[in-house]
Amino acid sequence: MNKVKMLYEGKGKKLYSTEEKDVLIAEFKDDLTAFNAEKKGSESGKGELNCKISSFLFEMLESKGFKTHYIQTIDAQNILCKRVEIIPIEVVTRNVATGSLSKRLGIEEGRVLPFALVEFYYKDDALGDPIINDEHCEILGIIQNRDELDFLRTQAKKINAVLKEFFDSKNLRLIDFKLEFGRDSAGNIILADEISPDSCRFWDKHTNEKLDKDRFRQDLGDVKLAYEEVLHRIMMA
Ligand code: TMP
Ligand code: ASP
Repeated sequence: MNKVKMLYEGKGKKLYSTEEKDVLIAEFKDDLTAFNAEKKGSESGKGELNCKISSFLFEMLESKGFKTHYIQTIDAQNILCKRVEIIPIEVVTRNVATGSLSKRLGIEEGRVLPFALVEFYYKDDALGDPIINDEHCEILGIIQNRDELDFLRTQAKKINAVLKEFFDSKNLRLIDFKLEFGRDSAGNIILADEISPDSCRFWDKHTNEKLDKDRFRQDLGDVKLAYEEVLHRIMMA
């Protein structure tokens, strides 16, 4: 299958149509952005690393019965995926307090939360992706009914349970992560976008060293090395 036309360029990926109506190609970019793209950078090879990490995790989730947009990997930087209409909600799941949660509520960084916290953010760059609740979602008309939000929350928690255990076996702590869901041509809500060190926080289990995009956000250096380390660990038998 070939790229026919670029449909969309996001911060981390480009999406192309193909000869097949319901099949798209997602190309993972080397660009890095943070703070709603106020900070911009690039890391040669980052796209390939995210493509490999995300493909691996989507294949794992598919094998466990989760429905996703992932079809197959084409090459180092491109995957085939199902066309979906993205629901403009960033579903963030947190196991440990850090980032905007600590900032917003003053919860000490590194505090293990008593349960996995699922939050919704409105995916709107112009508004800076504000946090929203179920009623906001309904008023904004971005979901069809409240059951859909319950479904997103339940899926996020189930995916968290799978990923947390998996990463723990790789000596990585899954601190938090962001998921996006979309509607496929049959109207089913399926997992979309990517799961990578751009969209997750991983800390080394023993040293708590940060191995994700916080290295870029916080100018910690060795961004690519950290992503390579994540890939290396997940590929280890
Ligand atoms: P936050 O603490 O900055 O709200 O981030 C929570 C998680 O969501 C973290 O794993 C990074 C991820 N994330 C994204 O993937 N995209 C975003 O635009 C933001 C703000 C966070
Ligand atoms: N993805 C967002 C941006 O590019 C924010 C972030 O990940 O920190 O601006």
